Amino acid sequence: MATNRTFTMLKPDAVEKGHIGAILEKITAAGFKIVAMKLTQMSKSDAETFYAIHSERPFFGELVQYMTRGPIVAAVLEKDNAVEDFRTLIGATNPADAAEGTIRKLYATSMGENAVHGSDSDANAAIESAFHFAGREIF
Ligand code: CMP
Repeated sequence: MATNRTFTMLKPDAVEKGHIGAILEKITAAGFKIVAMKLTQMSKSDAETFYAIHSERPFFGELVQYMTRGPIVAAVLEKDNAVEDFRTLIGATNPADAAEGTIRKLYATSMGENAVHGSDSDANAAIESAFHFAGREIF
């Protein structure tokens, strides 16, 4: 996958609260093009695999339970400098530290329930996109 792409999930808390439309509006207004998108729900084993890097962390069980409790919106986004620019748009992992106007400042409630995911590198963007989408679903 090209390095001008990143992967995102609108997490269960954001979907439950009806924020899908508002968050997608922020994303597209910031210049990101949606090249793949679906409403889906992760199984326990999906979440354990997706977040395997955090498996030794004390919050892992809580994270898996949260990410599997309801539907998410998974999407692949395209823009120059996508990974870094998207992480700027969403703000710090902890919404208390997130800059004004960022998606997490507006819609996240806590470090755990932080509304949105953004890949942290081009390599992980490719891995995470391939986890959720078949090649023919990415445009
Ligand atoms: P994200 O950065 O998208 O991916 C890892 C997730 O783990 C992170 O969002 C949070 O949802 C969660 N997380 C990270 N740190 C903590 C923490 N200290 N306590 C609870 N959840 C956390």
